[in-house]
Amino acid sequence: MKVLSYQIKALFVEACLSAFPELSQEHLKKLVTIEEPRDKSHGDYACPAPLRLGKTTGLNPKEVGERIVDNFPKDDRIGELSFAQPGFLNLKLSKAFLEESLKSLERDFNMESNEVYEESSRPVIVEYPSTNAAKPMGVHHILTSIIGDSLANLFDFMGYKVLRINHLGDWGTNFGKIIYAVKTWGDKKKIHEKPNQEFARLYVKFNEEAEKNPALNNIARNIFAKLEKGDKEQEAIWKWIVYESTEDLKKLLKRMNIEIDLTMGESFYRKITENVIKEGIEKGLFVEGKEGSLIFDMGEGRVPALIRKKDGASLYLTRDLAAVKYRVETWNPKYIFYIVDRAQSLHFEQNFHICKALGYAQDTKLEHITFGRMSFAGKGMSTRKGNVIKLEALLNEAVDRAAKLAAKKGTELPRKEYAQLAEIMGVGSVKYAILSQDRNKDLSFEWEKIISLDGNSAPYLLYTTARARSILKKSGEEALKGLPVLTEEYEIVLVRQMIKFPEVLNRATLERKPHIICTYLYELASAFNRFYNNVHVIGANTKLQKRSRLGLIKAFLNQMESGLGILGIQNVDRM
Ligand code: ARG
Repeated sequence: MKVLSYQIKALFVEACLSAFPELSQEHLKKLVTIEEPRDKSHGDYACPAPLRLGKTTGLNPKEVGERIVDNFPKDDRIGELSFAQPGFLNLKLSKAFLEESLKSLERDFNMESNEVYEESSRPVIVEYPSTNAAKPMGVHHILTSIIGDSLANLFDFMGYKVLRINHLGDWGTNFGKIIYAVKTWGDKKKIHEKPNQEFARLYVKFNEEAEKNPALNNIARNIFAKLEKGDKEQEAIWKWIVYESTEDLKKLLKRMNIEIDLTMGESFYRKITENVIKEGIEKGLFVEGKEGSLIFDMGEGRVPALIRKKDGASLYLTRDLAAVKYRVETWNPKYIFYIVDRAQSLHFEQNFHICKALGYAQDTKLEHITFGRMSFAGKGMSTRKGNVIKLEALLNEAVDRAAKLAAKKGTELPRKEYAQLAEIMGVGSVKYAILSQDRNKDLSFEWEKIISLDGNSAPYLLYTTARARSILKKSGEEALKGLPVLTEEYEIVLVRQMIKFPEVLNRATLERKPHIICTYLYELASAFNRFYNNVHVIGANTKLQKRSRLGLIKAFLNQMESGLGILGIQNVDRM
């Protein structure tokens, strides 16, 4: 996969170097940048070099621009090069190059053809959904799952080896309470039917009872202490709780078409945690805090990090240190991405800082990938006190609404296929709503926008893709032989859009932002619909034109399928 703008930039640098031999290449490489004009009629790329060089050389930008144009290397890809105030050079790609490109765009846009710009033999660990055992998913876990899965798909597509790890919260003092509640009030059959919902109910019951009878808290603490010491009876119940809870999670993930490779709960790191503590003490990094606790000094003006509680119980943070140590020793990953709510920023700051001090992850980049809050058209979606948004209910509502939308559109399909369509559309719409917005911004969920056939939504993209697929099927995918010819502006615009896909993927990868792909796909689908509504394909004037237009549709489908695949949205054949 070639990033065209990198190559165009090299041509500009070369031209500037010949025009101003007194300037160094290093200097020019920094000075020359390539932009994409907002208004695409200006060209495919814009370069502000005349403006910038005008400042360093004292010449008038127009004169600089002319000199660059005169010295521009001869290249078949370049169509037009023109100066624009206050000091830009606008570049239009040549038609011959677009026609040539279309040939390769028709071929599968698959992983094998990708050229990765980084060493990729070391894996990337993407951590999600990292829910908590014995609890239903919280709102932030929904975002974690969907964003995490899509980033993992993206890195996979770009040729990295990806390891998707679920860092399940299956350890901690709350398990003492859950074990007690399950033993005292639990109904095995009921739990088995709806595990996480039932565990959550039992947990609430425990807290209510403990308010009346505070001694229960001590009992629960003792149960967890026993569990930490390896007591067989507690361990058997705990294992069963975690098992039921994980099966429940798996079902939900399956419905969302989200995959994970490994579930490695916090409990896995118990032993390693002891080694981490030993190392930290030996290095003089972990020191005694209040009443026999163990702390790490985060430096001037910052709260110290608690490494071990005064009662000796291990902690969330310490288990995370152990996880880094284990992952680096086992896989030597290039990156570890933690897709986790921003409420845990301090936690990850401490985690990364202490890992550095301990010498873990010297050559592994640890990144906390955050996201904004999600609300329903202004109303918050708190997970506290009853006001819980359950993922399952959210998906069910989306699927219902999708079925209604399809009915309104007049979709006629056999019952089973209809239900499948609604499921794919509904789940896809929820995913797309989350992915299509810059993840750092807060997200307001509006059903009318999300489940709609026009606008930047999953149904719109799915519908356009299904449309393209059906044309190709009808035409029998006639052999795409010979070099395509582009005659209509609508065709040219579409190809100009499509050659940008590699750099869009590249940018999304570098910024870890799936919405960049969504924006691209939306623009692509719009350009495609304009083309399709205005240009005859099957009824084209010449054979060559028909061939080209089918080629365009094939290329469009390749990109759409790749893009939707990265977003984790399934395709539909008919709508
Ligand atoms: N289980 C935690 C929670 O739900 C998130 C875990 C995030 N990952 C990590 N390595 N700490 O809040």
